[in-house]
Amino acid sequence: MLDLRLLRLVAVAGLSLSALAASPAAQAVDADGALMLARQSGCLKCHAVDKKKEAPAYRDIAAKYKGNSEAPAKLYHHITSGERVKFEDGHEEDHKVVKSKDPAQIRNLVDWILSLPGGTAPK
Ligand code: HEC
Repeated sequence: MLDLRLLRLVAVAGLSLSALAASPAAQAVDADGALMLARQSGCLKCHAVDKKKEAPAYRDIAAKYKGNSEAPAKLYHHITSGERVKFEDGHEEDHKVVKSKDPAQIRNLVDWILSLPGGTAPK
């Protein structure tokens, strides 16, 4: 079950990687590494790549920040500082902090999220 879901996630990430390869300006993203870190950090309990759960889909986050040059710094801060977030039902809690102290690994996760092709289908 989990394996199937992971496979799908990897497939989605693979697609975005080939899209990136077509763009000369983009740097390579290690999608497998990003996904593994997200999984180890428990991110996928609330976030999925392509559908909304308790938290926005990573694709929607990518769409929201498309073209925003401050996005990488903002998201880096978001996933390392434990800032307060508001859930849809109105309750608030400290956002989960990523389980890594390696800036390159964290930046890779941020770049991967932002590289995802934009937006989930509207409901
Ligand atoms: C307990 C549920 C939960 C977990 C676990 C969680 N998040 Fe979130 N996350 C949220 C919610 C809710 C929001 C939306 C906050 C908002 O829009 O104000 C959010 C927003 C985000 C955003 C977008 C922030 C923005 O500025 O729009 C990113 C990126 C993100 N999370 C990444 C992660 C990563 C990486 C992890 C794992 C380290 C993670 N999240 C774990 C609930 C969660």
